[in-house]
Amino acid sequence: MKSFKRYLITSALPYANGPVHIGHLAGVYIPSDIYTRYLRMKGMDVISVCGSDEHGVPITIKARQEGISPQDVVDKYNAIIKDAFARFGIAFDIYSRTSSKVHYQTASEFFRKLYDAGEFIEKTTEQYYDAEVNQFLADRYITGTCPHCSNENAYGDQCEKCGTSLNATDLINPKSTLSGTKPVLRETKHWFLPLDKYQPFLEKWILEEHKEWKANVYGQCKSWLDQGLQPRAVSRDLDWGVPVPVEGAEGKVLYVWFDAPIGYISATKELTPEWEKYWKDEETRMIHFIGKDNIVFHCIVFPTMLKAEGSYILPENVPANEFLNLEGDKISTSRNWAVWLHEYLDEFPGKQDVLRYTLTANMPETKDNDFTWKDFQARNNNELVAILGNFVNRALVLTQKYYEGKVPAAGALTDFDKETIAELPRLKEAIESNLEVFRFREALKEAMNVARLGNKYLADTEPWKLIKTDPERVATIMNIALEITANLSVLFEPFLPFAAEKIRKMLNIERIEWANAGSINLIAAGHATGSPELLFDKIEDEVIEAQLAKLKATKEANERKNRTVTPQKANVSYEEFSKMDIRTGTVLEAERVPKTQKLLKMTIDTGIDKRTVVSGIAEYFTPEEMVGKQVSMLVNLEPRKIKGIESQGMILMAEDADGKLVLVQPAAKVENGSEIK
Ligand code: MF3
Ligand code: ZN
Repeated sequence: MKSFKRYLITSALPYANGPVHIGHLAGVYIPSDIYTRYLRMKGMDVISVCGSDEHGVPITIKARQEGISPQDVVDKYNAIIKDAFARFGIAFDIYSRTSSKVHYQTASEFFRKLYDAGEFIEKTTEQYYDAEVNQFLADRYITGTCPHCSNENAYGDQCEKCGTSLNATDLINPKSTLSGTKPVLRETKHWFLPLDKYQPFLEKWILEEHKEWKANVYGQCKSWLDQGLQPRAVSRDLDWGVPVPVEGAEGKVLYVWFDAPIGYISATKELTPEWEKYWKDEETRMIHFIGKDNIVFHCIVFPTMLKAEGSYILPENVPANEFLNLEGDKISTSRNWAVWLHEYLDEFPGKQDVLRYTLTANMPETKDNDFTWKDFQARNNNELVAILGNFVNRALVLTQKYYEGKVPAAGALTDFDKETIAELPRLKEAIESNLEVFRFREALKEAMNVARLGNKYLADTEPWKLIKTDPERVATIMNIALEITANLSVLFEPFLPFAAEKIRKMLNIERIEWANAGSINLIAAGHATGSPELLFDKIEDEVIEAQLAKLKATKEANERKNRTVTPQKANVSYEEFSKMDIRTGTVLEAERVPKTQKLLKMTIDTGIDKRTVVSGIAEYFTPEEMVGKQVSMLVNLEPRKIKGIESQGMILMAEDADGKLVLVQPAAKVENGSEIK
């Protein structure tokens, strides 16, 4: 095994075209944060870099939709995301952005170095062009049918349904998202990174030398390599991005997936003048935290770029997670189907750790997973409150009560004490060995087992019973309980940094190094603890119901949006229309038609006569409501029998897509019998 002196942790740069949601957190930022905090506690030299990914077509599309500039879009979301991460306690050393000057320089120089070394293939190919708006259609500016799964809404760069990455020319029935027209092919010059040339290197490096990568990551890489790599264009015809730094490249920018990962380098440069030590020294261990849709870029494309450049190290591991769903449905920014971090922080002040805990416990490490609000509540009430909070509270409250808050000295240890104590280093090691291989769920379970151990210890020793008869024994028990509490403050720090800090405050202790955890020598006898507080509070049903109601409203709003208006019918001549005799009339009497749900029988003054009409509106109007109402009515409709009653006309209604009926009435009262035309 290679030896390492330092760590460089990167977390996928979120696109600054929307806020961060729980899917991002569970997939990328929570695992990266746990890992970083753990390494720091071990005293490692570690830096964690991130920032906003501010280029790419989705940002220009969003700008167009909102009628603002791409710069406005990224300024807005960069601020929201950065602030939300900070409030959530994500431990980045820097949160930068790819619109920074340093980044433009770094990305240009990187491209230029490969260009000068002759690493790119310069090729003129045919690309889709929208002749109506005079623009080449990069990536998401084009949609069509996926050739693999027939999804009709696949993008020019990727099908989100089957996950395949595509070229726009692969799409069946391509359509411009700008004008909706069918695009035409037009010649344009671009620079291609010859991934095929690096295939042998990648096969050896990944398939042979990194068999330890997570199965989902290794598997995806293998399938890419098995299919055979192709050169990939690293430039685009767009006006938003880092300009291609060569002569004759006007109107062309670097492809977002070329510039964005270089953002990790720019962020490091911004953070420290010693950035090269993190990027160019073989004794640095670089780890990329990403979601599964980023695997190819971080395992194949970016490493090829780094390798071609020649002076950089490659990632040691790329622990990608799968996706998190929300209440059984795919999280979606465009459908607003998400729990947004900034909203959560506003709605659940002080409860960062509850979300951290729930998302870690359900982390989609090996397969997609589901977040539900009921589970969130249960995890809080049954685990955080009932196990962790309960133990810490009992240890501190009993210490207050029996010893005025001073840590009692331990006496002789019983076998049971020794067994309990022996569990601590074992659990600590279990947490470590899981964290080392990015098994965060298991690691969290083991941390929780420390709290379980504490609860069991108190339940079995029952100090509250012994205090009268054997106070000496109680001193030992409480000493051990407080030592377990101090251990919890260390072992939970990577997962629940806010709770860990609260425990330290209650114990009145400083941060303890990871190396010292696992023992019972963390606090001295006689030390004065702080005042006990509740670590977590119960979350009531109303709170959960409110969140579910919010999601339900979102779903309904989406359904409304998605409803299509009935297409227009074939044209009619005025002559045909004028055959309809539509008049105003007033309802004189109304009653339900017996044994029916929907029918009302009404007598209507049509101005011409008084006549009977049967109408299917009883679900929307009571007879009382109808009496006195002025209506519009087709009076020359062929009479017909409904439930044995002859209906002599039809009342006009507007019907929405839900089938809801609304009366069509003249805007002001008019004479009965007025013609409507
Ligand atoms: N913005 C991309 C996404 O959200 C991730 C970019 S990661 C980087 O999927 F490496 F390119 F920066
Ligand atoms: Zn597909």
